[in-house]
Amino acid sequence: MSHNAPIGVFDSGVGGLSVLREIRELLPRESLLYVADSGHVPYGEKSPEFIRERCRLLADFLLKQGAKALVLACNTATAAGIAELRELYPQLPIVGMEPAVKPAAAATRSGVVGVLATTGTLKSAKFAALLDRFASDVRVITQPCPGLVECIEAGELDGTQTRAMLRGWVQPLLAEGCDTLILGCTHYPFIKPLLRELLPASVSLIDTGAAVARHLQRLLAERELLASGPAQVARFWSSAEPLRMQAVLPGLWGEPAQVRAL
Ligand code: DGL
Repeated sequence: MSHNAPIGVFDSGVGGLSVLREIRELLPRESLLYVADSGHVPYGEKSPEFIRERCRLLADFLLKQGAKALVLACNTATAAGIAELRELYPQLPIVGMEPAVKPAAAATRSGVVGVLATTGTLKSAKFAALLDRFASDVRVITQPCPGLVECIEAGELDGTQTRAMLRGWVQPLLAEGCDTLILGCTHYPFIKPLLRELLPASVSLIDTGAAVARHLQRLLAERELLASGPAQVARFWSSAEPLRMQAVLPGLWGEPAQVRAL
């Protein structure tokens, strides 16, 4: 495998762009391939079997494009599908995401941590194991957010509907004394500005995009797979109407780019 081969990244939609941005920032020499499975979003309300099938298909597509590593830029897909992908491709560096329970448990002063994530992530065995391992000394309140991913996919980052839903979810957490809020879905970093408006400054927001980029860097370095050469551009695919993603890319990715149909 050549060190200048691309890194393949996928999510159920545009949420994983929040992770892709961190990867671009830390590893600008890497060629990046991004697949948004927006034709099947949201994963959060789908069965683990369905998500595993999507993971196999998307991984296969990215490997056919020559990917030297995979990033599941999706907490829900990681919970359902990463174990199977690691079995299928034992030699391949594969990085996943999980809600940042460990750092949140270390950071909270009130002892109450909130988790915003999809229903699928919160119901998963992986998440239960994470709580058992790292959250024995704190109270964790989980809050699924059905409908939020769809708003973010549509580029509605601070519309009336997004705002009303979020307010309804965070107010009970605040009433319970939550001072640390985990963003356990890769779509949610895009609504950080709105969350900052709705939450007191004393509440910390924790997400894992930057940690995932660092983990990827370590894995590639260990295998001597870090790219050299000039900075690279990213290539994008969507399983929904490509023009829809193309319209929200400048806002979410920071620059326009062409999106191809998957
Ligand atoms: N962005 C995804 C995650 O991190 C999933 C959103 C969805 O499709 O429900 O969990």
